[in-house]
Parts: sequence; C-alpha cells; structure tokens
Amino acid sequence: MALFKKKPEAEISLQDIILPEHVGIIMDGNGRWAKKRGLPRSAGHTAGAQVFRKIARYCSNIGIRYLTVYAFSTENWKRPKDEVDALMRLFKDYLEEAIRDFKDDSIILRFIGDRSAFSPELIALMEENETESKDRDGMVLNIAMNYGGRAELITAMRQMAREAADGTLDPDSIDEQVVSDHLYTKGEPDPDLIIRPSGENRTSNFLLWQSAYAEYVIMDVLWPDFKEKDLDAALIEYAKRNRRFGGV
Ligand code: IPE
Ligand code: IPE
Ligand code: MG
Repeated sequence: MALFKKKPEAEISLQDIILPEHVGIIMDGNGRWAKKRGLPRSAGHTAGAQVFRKIARYCSNIGIRYLTVYAFSTENWKRPKDEVDALMRLFKDYLEEAIRDFKDDSIILRFIGDRSAFSPELIALMEENETESKDRDGMVLNIAMNYGGRAELITAMRQMAREAADGTLDPDSIDEQVVSDHLYTKGEPDPDLIIRPSGENRTSNFLLWQSAYAEYVIMDVLWPDFKEKDLDAALIEYAKRNRRFGGV
C-alpha cells in the first residue's frame, strides 16, 4: 500500500508516492500559538480557522478523497465560557460562507458528531451546507463538531439495541461492517493517516473505531502555523510506513 521509491529525501515529491485515501487532522495548538504571542486563545482559533480553509482546499487539489478534521470535541465544552462562545461565533461565521468557500473545489461537506447540542441557527447552517454540497463530486470534508469517539460508539450501540429490540437487527449478525454502518462515517473508508500537530501523543477521543489501523504522524508545529509543506511532509512520512494490518 505505502509505496516509497528509493530517492534521496530532498527529491521525494507527492508525485512519487501513493496518497492516503482518507486523512484525519486533529487541529490542535491554537491556544498555545496565541499564548506565545500574548493574545487571547480565541485569536488562536481565528488563525486556526484560516489554516483549516487553506489546508482543506490543498488536500482537495492534490487528490485526497476524504478529509476529516477535528474542530470541537465532546470534552471541549469544559473550557471557559468565553472561549466556547468565541468558538461558536467562529463556527457560525464560517458556516455562513462555507458553501461558497468550497464551491469551486466541488467539496462535499458533512458534519460528524452530536449536533443537537448546538444552537438552532448553527444546526440549520450545518444542514444547509450538507444539502447544498451533497451532489458535488469532489473531496468529502467531514467536520467533527461535538464529536467524541466514545459518544459515537454509544450512539451506535443504542441504535443497534433499538433495532434488535424491534426485531430489525439480529444480534448474531452484528459484525465490524454492521458497527461501521452505525457510525457517523457510514459508507466512508477508514482513515489511513491521522496527523496531529502541536506535538501531543494522544488520540483525544478522535475516530476511535475508525482509526484501528491508521498511521499516526505527530508534528511539532502548532496548527495556526501549519503549512502545505507540513502536509506534504506528513504524506511522505506516511508513504514510508509499512502497513501490515496484523500480517507479516
Ligand atoms: C485546538 O486547539 C482547537 C480546539 C480544541 C477547539 P487548542 O485550543 O486545544 O490549543 P492548545 O492545545 O490549548 O494549544
Ligand atoms: C482535541 O484537542 C480536540 C480538537 C482539536 C478539536 P484537545 O486540545 O481538546 O485535546 P487534549 O485536551 O489536549 O487531549
Ligand atoms: Mg489542545
């Protein structure tokens, strides 16, 4: 799967490698980026949102088929109210222009996570973005908002239990495919590569089921400083990995 032509490091370009079909990004480090500059954390989120636009478009241009970005976790509600409020304003401003923003790139927008916790206005904007972009033919961009891997699995388990109770699902038929089909990412391939900027070595509850065999690339750069060349570096690192999936 990960083909890597033996060339000196400096000469390797994206043309030489097989790209992952599905990339996940944990967009982390906004707060530290702002702190380093003596700015409020919200300024880091604003800068991070700009980087998100740029990197999403770049992924689409180079031929990534699925991109899942972690924008807000089920645990991020614990943050101070002013930070959560600033993030909600940012989401709203962004979603108002997202349809236009990604139109020329034919990007299909999907939101994964429990959206019921958001304001009716934000929920309506998510639905509008999904409906308006669903017939495009470009990259699928999943934006994980109020997403948690455990919460996603609980939702799936409850749904399967309901189907079993009403007789539409035979418990013995539950296999990996059936579970995958009850997740927000139903019908999508599992992520091949998950990039975490900001240097933290943990999943923080991102795509727990789907990432069973994902390659992780942890990078020291903070998300608002993340450049196209950092994505290239992660893709090249991914291509060097020997994915065995438990085989030899
Ligand atoms: C990621 O950046 C954005 C969200 C979690 C919403 P952080 O805000 O976690 O930035 P750090 O990790 O504190 O630097
Ligand atoms: C993960 O980052 C969530 C997002 C990037 C949206 P966090 O900053 O919330 O994760 P922890 O707290 O460092 O594990
Ligand atoms: Mg963080």
